[in-house]
Amino acid sequence: MRAEDICKRFDGKKVLEELSISVSCGELLAIIGPSGVGKTTLLRILNGLLYPEDGDVYFKGEPLTFEDEKDLDKRRKMALLSQKPYPFKDTVWENVAYPLRLRSEEEIDDKVSDALEHVSLLEMADRRAGTLSSGELQRMAFARATVFGPDVLLLDEFTAHLDPYNISVLEDAVEWYVDSKGAAAVMVTHNLFQAKRISHSTALLFDGRIIEKDSTEKIFEYPEDERTEAFVNGEMVF
Ligand SMILES: Nc1ncnc2c1ncn2[C@@H]1O[C@H](COP(=O)(O)OP(=O)(O)OP(=O)(O)O)[C@@H](O)[C@H]1O
Ligand SMILES: [Mg+2]
Repeated sequence: MRAEDICKRFDGKKVLEELSISVSCGELLAIIGPSGVGKTTLLRILNGLLYPEDGDVYFKGEPLTFEDEKDLDKRRKMALLSQKPYPFKDTVWENVAYPLRLRSEEEIDDKVSDALEHVSLLEMADRRAGTLSSGELQRMAFARATVFGPDVLLLDEFTAHLDPYNISVLEDAVEWYVDSKGAAAVMVTHNLFQAKRISHSTALLFDGRIIEKDSTEKIFEYPEDERTEAFVNGEMVF
């Protein structure tokens, strides 16, 4: 999937300016950058939830028009996982089954069990989602986001404020999903160690644009842009 020359303003204030980015099948791309720089905004544009003033988003080579009925089909092949997920239904099982019911899919029981197993939640399938801890809730949300096999996975600070056990279950699940399904994933994270641990490529978003995108190793070890170097070394970027 790719975005080209995206411009987005809020109340006249430029947030994204001629931003271009692409992510391939089987690629796990981390987007890093200071707070308020527009990372969540970019994910929402990629997901078709927000309309850019200018620029295009392409899904499998076809543009999202933000109008066409067909866009709904494209959006149904993407999933966005946010920092604070909400239960849609009562039990854990029903939450994970919900996207399959929406899409009238078959073999719901098998697919839900598989998805829950990958986040070590099968034994909690009958629990009320409202009683889960934040780590368990995020694991449920991951199962719900991937149970229907989306081609694009968009992750917005999906492990923020979680403990190391839940972070590791979720990171393993993302790696498994991208590798086994050949999905494209875009992961926004403030956790530079997380980007180093699991992403294949990393991009710095700053001043409305992608300043530099390369293999994660290159970005962290041999960045070309001085702003990337400052950011990955934990210095403030102005
Ligand atoms: N709906 C909106 N209306 C007005 N301004 C908005 C809206 N959504 C986002 N913004 C502004 O756009 C800028 C980018 O916001 P965004 O949430 O994309 O940043 P971010 O990089 O995700 O930040 P963080 O790392 O803190 O999550 C911010 O200045 C924010 O206040
Ligand atoms: Mg954000």
